[in-house]
Amino acid sequence: MEVISVEGGHPITGTVTVEGAKNSALKLMAATILAPGVTTLKNVPNIADVHVMGKVLKELGATVEVVDEHTLSIDTSAVNSWETPYSLVAQMRASTAVLGPLLARFGKAIVAMPGGCNIGARKIDMHILGLQALGVEFDVDHGDIHASAPHGLVGSTVTLDFASVGATENLIMASVHAKGTTVIDNAAREPEIVDLANMLNEMGANIEGAGSPVIEIHGVGELHPVTHAVVGDRIEAGTFVAVGGIVGQPVTVRGFDPNHLGLVLRKYEQMGLTIERGEREVTVSRSRDIMPIDIQTLPFPGFPTDMQAQTMCLLALAKGTCIITENVFENRFMFASELQRMGSNIVIQGHHAVVHGVEGLSGAEVRSPDLRGGAALVMAGLVADGITTVSDIYHIDRGYERFVEKLQSLSARISRVVIPTPDFGVS
Ligand code: UD1
Repeated sequence: MEVISVEGGHPITGTVTVEGAKNSALKLMAATILAPGVTTLKNVPNIADVHVMGKVLKELGATVEVVDEHTLSIDTSAVNSWETPYSLVAQMRASTAVLGPLLARFGKAIVAMPGGCNIGARKIDMHILGLQALGVEFDVDHGDIHASAPHGLVGSTVTLDFASVGATENLIMASVHAKGTTVIDNAAREPEIVDLANMLNEMGANIEGAGSPVIEIHGVGELHPVTHAVVGDRIEAGTFVAVGGIVGQPVTVRGFDPNHLGLVLRKYEQMGLTIERGEREVTVSRSRDIMPIDIQTLPFPGFPTDMQAQTMCLLALAKGTCIITENVFENRFMFASELQRMGSNIVIQGHHAVVHGVEGLSGAEVRSPDLRGGAALVMAGLVADGITTVSDIYHIDRGYERFVEKLQSLSARISRVVIPTPDFGVS
């Protein structure tokens, strides 16, 4: 078993560069199905989830070549299957992003019901309702979703109950060739949606309004392959900004658009962090106590749920009491019980966490409950007294490239350690 071991309480400072956004790269990879031929994706993070999406595409008949560490060349001309197996979808919920492109290209798709990060039910009913409005028929058989559009996809107006990122993306991709115009009302506005629409438009699609709550997709004929660079990862960036904020010494985070972290940076300033914004970087430092503030997670441009755990870590050390309200995912407070083991004082009440700031944290053995919670526990370990050991780090590897090495480059005393599997005396 591999764990991350952190010795807290040492100075941490320097500059770190983030990779391309996981949440964009996965959808861009799926979108290559729409443009038969060789698409080159640059600035792709070298993380486990990207490897899973590569396997999904290969399973469908694509060729995925690693050109260099951050460049993939994906040839989708020979894609000849529309079935995504459970073994892959169970590993990563975002595999369902192939549903839309497969429907657009073949008029049919079979996708297993999703698994992935353990943060609640994470249904896909909005994807299904939206696609039904475009003429797609669904059948569920032995846990597989069978989708088909026997009469082709036809543009329609879809109003989402909630600005779901995944549903917005699947609907955009499904409707690029649909007859007429598709309107997605109450669409998600995340920067990753804009990145997807930009690449599809470069491929010849006609998508207007990405980044606003109303997106219009005017159906077109064939798309052509392109070369496209993935947008910088605002959540990886935000995680390192939070690291700078918790340790206090200056940390510069490069390779992303600070506007994509707008509300996070403003909230962090209210907490007493000093943030200097550059064009593609921010520098964070802190010379005073962390002030208590309340936050609530919401779809973009609201406070991202993917920054909730890292922010809870900062607030666990605030001079007072704060309330964090999680509006996007259920079960996203699992991280709090691990942080309690490090001496925090957090009371969970439904989808609210009441965080009573404490003077300091102490090192402990903790378990990474999910991707962002795992990163946040490492972050807590950087300021805790003594050694913190974080297990189940495969969650962190899903979304952070060289997380430990990047923290080492900031002088953190941190390493990955292989520990023997416990011997229970049973042969
Ligand atoms: C994406 C991101 C994830 C981020 C989330 C919200 C990827 C790979 N993941 O996830 O990191 O935390 O956006 O910013 O891009 N829901 C339904 N029915 C549906 C679809 C969603 O009930 O059909 C619910 C979900 O269970 C969840 C909420 O809506 O409670 C938001 O989900 P959604 O925005 O779709 O998130 P994902 O696309 O899964």
